[in-house]
Amino acid sequence: MRYERRGEVPAKRHVQVRRNGGASPLLTEEVMGYEGFSGNETILLHLHSPCRLDAVGEFTPIQRTEWVPDTHVHRLADTAPMEPGGDSVGGRRLLMYNGDIEVSVCKPTEEMEGFYRNGEGDEVIYIHRGRGVLRTVFGRVAFKPKDYVVIPRGTTHTFELEDHDQHWMCFHTPGEIETPNRYRNRYGQLLEHAPFSQRDFHPPEDIETFDETGEFAVDVRVRDGFQRYVLDRHPFDVVGWDGYVWPYTFNADDFEPRAGRFHLPPPAHQTFQGPNFVICTFAPRMLDWDPEAVPLPYHHSNIQSEEVMFYAEGDYAARKGVEIGSITLHPSGLPHGPQPGAVEKSLGAKSTDELAIMWDTFKPLRLTDLWRDNDKPEYALSWNPDRAPATA
Ligand SMILES: [Fe+2]
Repeated sequence: MRYERRGEVPAKRHVQVRRNGGASPLLTEEVMGYEGFSGNETILLHLHSPCRLDAVGEFTPIQRTEWVPDTHVHRLADTAPMEPGGDSVGGRRLLMYNGDIEVSVCKPTEEMEGFYRNGEGDEVIYIHRGRGVLRTVFGRVAFKPKDYVVIPRGTTHTFELEDHDQHWMCFHTPGEIETPNRYRNRYGQLLEHAPFSQRDFHPPEDIETFDETGEFAVDVRVRDGFQRYVLDRHPFDVVGWDGYVWPYTFNADDFEPRAGRFHLPPPAHQTFQGPNFVICTFAPRMLDWDPEAVPLPYHHSNIQSEEVMFYAEGDYAARKGVEIGSITLHPSGLPHGPQPGAVEKSLGAKSTDELAIMWDTFKPLRLTDLWRDNDKPEYALSWNPDRAPATA
């Protein structure tokens, strides 16, 4: 990201800092960084040691229920009818995963009682529906529909929901969530041709500092499970921080879409990169403008990727049977493209109002019982008009 600073930060690092005109105890400096001390980092100044524990609770391993389908086919599932429930972390229901990424659906209806920190991965939450505030050790980050909420590992946080009509797609990766390298110059600044600028990334507002004693539960995701700790000091006791690591939002409406005289491939829509996967935003845009252009995607074989699309808004012309909230999975080894009639129908179209979020993984994805329970097997035959009455 870029350098940001909030609260009280001394002129030099690693110096004695006291508050109240020198009357308070020394503040505790915490360096929070990636790749040891070689990646991006932020320095936080705490009122108390962030190591201080009052009690160590249970370790709860993550349980995944894999669904191994009998057949390898294109798949469609609908997240719209999935039942809401749970809180903003505990309510996440795993939909698909591999060693690089986990994707969950969350429709929280309950407020979190404690705090959460992912100690083994970065997270992105795409807010399909809902508003609220991500409260973090760095400060408050308000979120709204179409926001990607990016939460670096190590960020102690909790959520405040503005309402209980929430629908999120949650991504976890053991790697780093970054904007694509090719959008940045050698100093890290976003280039003019990037589909977004630094102004589109919204860091925390002013920090919240609590000098409170009490009982504060913090669940930390580590070693493929959740370790519960109980603190006797409020974890948001930071008086200042500065650096390159902080949570932020980026709204899909701020993605400046690219179009060409002829069709551009998905990398034109790339928003984030992670290890062996990308996340793309197919935003409303003008379509390919040559009179001879075919405005829909050409058929393609994903010989080294699994392509997953979440349909967020608009009328998606290339797919039959797809509703807002639907997800298609076009797995590796199979060609896919617009369904019969879609290309003819699209000719001459000038624009599209679709908004879709896509994640492509370069390694196979495993599905869970949540997908099984929402799978629409008729989708596999939907390219054959004689065999697909259910999705016609
Ligand atoms: Fe595709």
